[in-house]
Amino acid sequence: MMKQILVLHGPNLNLLGTREPEMYGRLTLAEINEKLAALGEQLGAEIRPLQANSEGALIDALHAARAWADGVIFNPGGYTHTSVALRDAVAAIGLPVIEVHLSNVHARESFRRHSYIAPVCVGSITGFGWRSYAVALRLLAGTDDE
Ligand code: DQA
Repeated sequence: MMKQILVLHGPNLNLLGTREPEMYGRLTLAEINEKLAALGEQLGAEIRPLQANSEGALIDALHAARAWADGVIFNPGGYTHTSVALRDAVAAIGLPVIEVHLSNVHARESFRRHSYIAPVCVGSITGFGWRSYAVALRLLAGTDDE
């Protein structure tokens, strides 16, 4: 059976491609989503990408995922470092969630080293550009089990 994966992108990630490209790469969000869809096809997983700038919309998307998704790849953007409400949503839904970041959050300002979200995720992947998402997709698709 095809696994259904929510790929949830948080605030400012709609600007990828032009936003600090030396930090986040030159791919647009649409291009990242295309690459993930192609990889998903290879792995037998169907991805549903969604981007939102507001915390409430991200929480609603996480709640809605309970009804259809097998797992979530989540880049919470700046909310990573601020949001108790998003952490509570991740903890509430009972789905495996992998936190991802394009940049290496540990190599930047000290405020980025703390994540409210990470403790309620299966794990975190940070610093590999769009490939952070690709690794998370492989893990959720269950192709790296052995
Ligand atoms: C980010 C890292 C966050 O610290 C930052 O606020 C972002 C992007 C990343 O993907 O590297 O918006 O989540």
